[in-house]
Amino acid sequence: TYEQDGDEAREIAKHLPYYPFKGISKFYDIGGFLAKPDIFQEIVDIFVARYSGGGDHAIDSIAGLDARGFVLGPPIALALRVPFIMIRKEGKMPNTISSSEYDTEYGKRSGLTVQRDRIKEGDRVLIIDDLVATGGTLGSAITLVHALGGYVVECACVVELKMFIDPPEGSGLPSRKKLFES
Ligand code: PRP
Ligand code: MG
Repeated sequence: TYEQDGDEAREIAKHLPYYPFKGISKFYDIGGFLAKPDIFQEIVDIFVARYSGGGDHAIDSIAGLDARGFVLGPPIALALRVPFIMIRKEGKMPNTISSSEYDTEYGKRSGLTVQRDRIKEGDRVLIIDDLVATGGTLGSAITLVHALGGYVVECACVVELKMFIDPPEGSGLPSRKKLFES
């Protein structure tokens, strides 16, 4: 409903070049839409509509990623009346399993953690974050859900940066560059 690259769109997804340091192409400031309840509600409604119909999109819980996935995930989880699970950076919660360190747009990060009893064998989990850049953070979260026997229905974000970083050769995953071009 908003003209792409128009004033309103720019206000919603304000991006700053070279923040937090040079070499980062764009930093999206989600504070823009959080401060506009109508637009925040519209964004939440898009996710709620996608996951409220059951079938292939049926979910048992939503796992949100520390920190900005904690802002977006809970209103969606409440609207769908499903549990919200925190996937946090190291050293913040008891009784957790950890993923190994992972690469992000900003460089190497130590693992993410989730509490063991939050996900049961066969649970259908939706992973939510604000933004995907290299996919390193989401990839790390996926390994945690799988480690507890959960099934990742989808990973859903508001913003995707076109990073053009392809998965390792032989991984069997599609080329992101080709996906963007198609
Ligand atoms: C940012 C963003 C995503 C991640 C995307 O999180 O919120 O979680 O980077 O990058 P990737 O696709 O290259 O992994 P970050 O941990 O920097 O900050 P936050 O704690 O504010 O969410
Ligand atoms: Mg984040």
